[in-house]
Amino acid sequence: MRSMDVHTVPDLSVSLGRIHLKNPVLVASGTFGYGEEYEDFVESEELGGIITKAVTLEPREGNPPPRLAETPAGLLNSIGLENPGIEVFLTEKLPKLRKLKTRIIVNIAGEKKTEYLDLAEKLDRETGIDALEVNISCPNVQRGGVVFGTRADLAFSLVKGLRQATNLPLIVKLTPNVTDITEIAQAAKEGGADALSLINTILGMAIDVNTRRPRIGAITGGLSGPAIRPIAVRMVHQTHQNVDLPLIGVGGITSCEDALEFVLAGATAVAVGTANFVDPVVSLEIIEGLREYLKRWGVHSYQSLVGGLRT
Ligand SMILES: Cc1cc2nc3c(=O)[nH]c(=O)nc-3n(C[C@H](O)[C@H](O)[C@H](O)COP(=O)(O)O)c2cc1C
Repeated sequence: MRSMDVHTVPDLSVSLGRIHLKNPVLVASGTFGYGEEYEDFVESEELGGIITKAVTLEPREGNPPPRLAETPAGLLNSIGLENPGIEVFLTEKLPKLRKLKTRIIVNIAGEKKTEYLDLAEKLDRETGIDALEVNISCPNVQRGGVVFGTRADLAFSLVKGLRQATNLPLIVKLTPNVTDITEIAQAAKEGGADALSLINTILGMAIDVNTRRPRIGAITGGLSGPAIRPIAVRMVHQTHQNVDLPLIGVGGITSCEDALEFVLAGATAVAVGTANFVDPVVSLEIIEGLREYLKRWGVHSYQSLVGGLRT
């Protein structure tokens, strides 16, 4: 590590494969809408990038209510990929996203391989998109998506197909609901992924003992928030050790220190999810915190921290 003058403003810019980010802090899919929902709170230009809510080929209504339930240090959700579909995304959401001076990563989801490929082909024709995040990890849909994330052969074949369908960088979003996440990570790499993001939510359940009913309409939901952070950090560490691809660390990040855990475990960038619901400007505080950390420790380059865990 090179030392740094205390008056220098630390440079947080970083490359995530082919994607250049002004800083490593992104907002996670499904927790920041399509950007416009947060425009009164956050100067999007300050962010490393925005990962949009999942878009599917057809509009989806999502799962029955209730869709959210708080748990100790966590949130259970079963939104079920509610979204207006690709046509509305292209005509109404993308024109607004294009105007934002930050990286735009579009999260795509589907039930069949052909749906993912159609989405990729449509988005490939558009300007203003910096990468696709391929959601093969949503626990809240009955078919499709999550199956690709739990079987290495299917993950490989899907990513390979997508690699042929688009030149856009492909970030594959992995599910923690597997025995060995590194197997799926390796399959995504062999299929042609540029980067990986991990983790999506962990399948969970909560019951109201007075009504004897599940707290979530779909019975099970995806657990997010600080409760899942140690699992996510462990999975980033394991993947960094075994698979040579840049990683986006996601799962329970609420502060700069949380973000740094992921970076030291091997994440090149991080994405802030559930914490946006508690404090919409938390990502900006994390960016500032990273600058202060670099200054405090006299670290010249952010990149040198990635995977800097001492064991
Ligand atoms: C309400 C909600 C909606 C989400 N929607 C999506 C989605 O559309 N696509 C996706 O890949 N991940 C989605 N996620 C998962 C998050 O992007 C993130 O991976 C997960 O919540 C863990 O991070 P966190 O603990 O910081 O929230 C969603 C999470 C929540 C809480």
